[in-house]
Amino acid sequence: MTSLQGKNILLGISAGIAAYKIANLVRLLVKKQANVKVVMSENAKQFVSPLTLSVLSKNKIYDTFYTTDNQWNSHVELGLWADAMVVAPATANTLAKMANGICDNLLIATYLSAKCPVFFAPTMDLDMYKHPTSTKNIETLQSFGNQLIASNYGELASGLIGEGRMAEPEEILTRLEAYFSDNQMLVGKKVLLTAGPTYENIDPVRFVGNYSSGKMGIALANAAAAMGASVELVLGPVSQQYIDPRVQVIQVRSASDMYKAVNERFTYMDIAILAAAVADYTPKEKAEHKIKKSGENLILELVKTKDILASLGQKKQPHQKLIGFALETQNELDNAKDKILRKNLDAIVLNSLNDQGAGFATDTNKVTFITAQMEEYPLPLKPKTELAYEIINLIIKYCK
Ligand code: CTP
Repeated sequence: MTSLQGKNILLGISAGIAAYKIANLVRLLVKKQANVKVVMSENAKQFVSPLTLSVLSKNKIYDTFYTTDNQWNSHVELGLWADAMVVAPATANTLAKMANGICDNLLIATYLSAKCPVFFAPTMDLDMYKHPTSTKNIETLQSFGNQLIASNYGELASGLIGEGRMAEPEEILTRLEAYFSDNQMLVGKKVLLTAGPTYENIDPVRFVGNYSSGKMGIALANAAAAMGASVELVLGPVSQQYIDPRVQVIQVRSASDMYKAVNERFTYMDIAILAAAVADYTPKEKAEHKIKKSGENLILELVKTKDILASLGQKKQPHQKLIGFALETQNELDNAKDKILRKNLDAIVLNSLNDQGAGFATDTNKVTFITAQMEEYPLPLKPKTELAYEIINLIIKYCK
């Protein structure tokens, strides 16, 4: 049975040339036995005919608040009807309206009313796509919990080659199928995660820290919650970002706080994924008062922190799965494999800082998943929100 069978999928079409491809998406969804309704902006009708979409979806098309015979098209009802909404193509204008709540058409009113997960597939010409305002609007939507179906690199309608091409209908379909099938896979499981940096105090106003944004770990926590797990996230100091309300967050600051919070919880967990960038060393003395400037040099003595991951590896029970992260800049695979053995892991996710667009503070990442049997699964560069699902699927599949 397809995971889309009987699901109500609401497609929001805005006025991009890629709108013509949505006819195919409707067809694919209907073949998977989903119920499809379409809400479209006035200008989108220039790119794809409402009649085509209506015939394919076997439903009427929603485009205005009122029909000519004074019937009200209720955005509230449409929003409540949907199990998932997909805004595709999401043009620069529609992204901006969604990000700012500018509710001047039925599509945006429905978006604002939708209580279901919302996916959006941006499309625009490469320079528009690269403009900081587009980046900011996409980030804003992600911070609301909306799920980006990233644009592809390729030939654009303008004839230029670059980023901004809407994800293909098959890719959008796969994301929806994954969303609905994945939801079931971690039901009844307890998942512990760590994310973000740790801050090691020097004195009351200074600390030793690192650039970790927590994005990868938070994306994993959100994905695990969406897949039905009960999730606890031990989180270092990070800037505000969307965390699924089903995730229980335990905020910590230092490596020793994190060690304590994680070790207190591990016994009743099924899976632990430690993605935090934990300080390996902490100042030996934490001054009670601000250290005043004195001589030319200041020597700070640092002592080793406890390795949280290794401590869990020592007490892990056979039914528990333990997954670490490794960030390496040289001999990446060998070092990561060595960590699997040293820390008694079921798998490790290797990040490489050598890859462009991968690593700290970026929205994308490129990783290799390595199992305890030393099998390597390289994953392509992707948004961390998407990668999170792939990593969890690999954990379910290979960490048995
Ligand atoms: N880790 C941890 N506790 C520490 C240090 C690291 O739990 N005190 C975890 C990280 O969360 C990550 C994994 O160990 O999952 C690997 O971290 P990394 O910094 O790459 O490795 P280290 O073991 O610190 O080794 P090295 O710095 O020598 O590469």
